[in-house]
Order: sequence, then structure tokens, then C-alpha cells
Amino acid sequence: MPSTLVTGALGQIGSDLVRTLRAQHGAEAVLATDLRETDTSLGGLYEPLDVRDGERLKALIEQYEVDTVYHLASLLSARGEQAPELAWEVNVNGLRYLLEGARARKLKVFWPSSIAVFGPTTPSTAPQQTVLEPTTMYGVTKVAGELLCQYYATRYGVDVRSLRYPGLISYGAPPGGGTTDYAVEIFYAALEDGQYTCFLAPETRLPMMYMPDALRATLGLMAAPAEQIRVRTSYNVTAFSFSAAELAAALQEHVPNFTVTYAPDFRQAIADSWPDRVDDSAARADWDWQPRYDLDTMVDDMLVHLREKLTIPSNP
Ligand code: NAD
Ligand code: SER
Repeated sequence: MPSTLVTGALGQIGSDLVRTLRAQHGAEAVLATDLRETDTSLGGLYEPLDVRDGERLKALIEQYEVDTVYHLASLLSARGEQAPELAWEVNVNGLRYLLEGARARKLKVFWPSSIAVFGPTTPSTAPQQTVLEPTTMYGVTKVAGELLCQYYATRYGVDVRSLRYPGLISYGAPPGGGTTDYAVEIFYAALEDGQYTCFLAPETRLPMMYMPDALRATLGLMAAPAEQIRVRTSYNVTAFSFSAAELAAALQEHVPNFTVTYAPDFRQAIADSWPDRVDDSAARADWDWQPRYDLDTMVDDMLVHLREKLTIPSNP
């Protein structure tokens, strides 16, 4: 019987997380769920689940004797601006149904927040505790979610833990409609097309992290003794920050003829409302968080894996 349930399992983070959890605990120990009716891509237990359906969520938790949930189902920042009502229903109502289930069944929960909780009134290097006045519906849902998590932890003793992920870069499932998606798209464009039109301006700088570090942070937080978890809203975590032009230059060192043009769209305003950097000293002090990848080692590793995935020789 699986003991771990992952919602939003077919997304950018979920697909990598499910593989990692199954490698650690065994294929049968992890139930993947998402909107799709069926799935064979992850090669294990799968059930369709819309997280807006609290009854179905409860039934799956009981049926599969779940004790731990990684709740990743969400609309991200760009999609959230296109469908704000849906973003609230999925991101906030879905989380509340889960926290109610966690309260009743004493589940341990991981739920990701985001740098989107910050806004233009946050300092450009965002402290752990600071002004949270986001300008996007996605950010509003993440602030509400953080407060819900803290409320369920302090009022009902639910062991819910959370990270404010920065933009995540990976070579597995594509990103699902965020403002930092450009930092993944640009790798595919460099290898497949030799040119990329970036939807953010060249000087736009954002906090970022490579997926292996994001998975280590997630599993590290979940493995930490409960008494070390002093933040029950959500921990800042980061690895590095770069501007769009700096990422393009790092790629051009490996793909010399790669060209990038810039055509900022509505996502520019979202990026401009977020901080350049994040101070993650609380995570480092409380549960020993430490990233392993910097910009250069991330670019090297991404290119190795993407060339393999796209069957592009390394020295054409
Ligand atoms: P994603 O868009 O790639 O995946 C989200 C998944 O949720 C998708 O597979 C989608 O089908 C599913 N989903 C959407 N609505 C649903 C519903 N009603 N019921 C069930 N499933 C539904 O996103 P991701 O990048 O994997 O993000 C996962 C979590 O991490 C989200 O909470 C997101 O806010 C957070 N996060 C991601 C990043 C990032 O850069 N990827 C950064 C900060 C925070
Ligand atoms: N990567 C996410 C987004 O751009 C940040 O939460 O929406």
C-alpha cells in the first residue's frame, strides 16, 4: 500500500519528485495523482484527482492508507493572471481540503510556496520575515496558503512544512505556466533552434535554483526533526540569481552561435514585482539547507542531460 500521495504529480516538480520518492521508498509506496484520467509516463500507481474535489481526496487518502502528502497541484503565476478565480479555487480551496484531511488523519504535509509571496514593497533581497504585498493572484493565493499552513500547524498540530521555491530549472517535464519558464525554454531553444525570443527584458534578475537542489531541499525539510522547524509559514530557499542576459551569455559559452532577442510581455510586470534575491539564512540555520549548484554548474549539467534527451551530440 502506498503511504505517500503526490498531487499535481505530472508537473515540472511532481514528475521528478515522484521518481525520486519511488527510488527511495519503492514504486508501490508512492501514489501519483493529477488531472489526467490515466498516466503511464511515471510508470507506477496513478489515480486521477482534481484537488477541488475534497471528497475524492479524502477517499484516496483512506483507500491508500496515506500518511504523507506532497501537495503540488497549482496554477502558476502567468496562468493565474489569466484565470484568477480558478487559481483561487485550486491553490487555496484545494490546500484547505488537504489540511482538513491532514487534521483528521494526522498526515504529514509538504506544500510549496513561492517567491511570488513578495511584491514591489518587499526589499530587493527578500528577508525571511518581511512585507508580503503581492500584485498577482498567484502571490495572493500563496500568502493565503502560508497563513493557512501556519494556522493548521499551531491550532491543530498538523505537521505541515513549506518552502518558498525560487524559479526552478530542470530538463524533465516542461514548466507549467510561470514567469520563470523562460529560464528553461531558453535551453531547448539554444540546442534546437539556435535562437530565442525572451519574454522578459535582459536586465531582469530573479532568484533561481536547479531541480536537484529543489528536491534535496524538499526532502531535507521533510526529514528534519519537527522541533527544528521554527517557521510554519514557509522557508525562503535559494541557490543563485541571474538576469536573462547573464543566462544567455552563460549558454553562449557552450553554444557560440546562439542568439537571443527580447520582447517583454505581460510577464515582465510580474517579474518586476518580485525580488532579485532571497535571504535563506533561516533555512540554513534551522535544518542545514545548503545548495550545491551555481549558475555555471547548473548550465553544464542541464546541457549534458538535454543533449541526451534530445539526442543532440555534444560536439556537433
Ligand atoms: P506545474 O504547472 O508544472 O504542475 C502543476 C500540476 O498541477 C500540473 O500537472 C497540473 O495538471 C496540476 N493541476 C492543476 N490544477 C489541478 C487541479 N485542479 N487538481 C489537480 N491537479 C491540478 O507546476 P510545478 O512547477 O510542478 O509547481 C508545483 C508547485 O510548486 C506549485 O505549488 C507551484 O506554485 C510551486 N512552485 C513552483 C515553482 C517553479 O519554478 N516550478 C516555483 C515556486 C513554486
Ligand atoms: N516559477 C514560478 C512562477 O514563475 C514561481 O513561483 O510562477
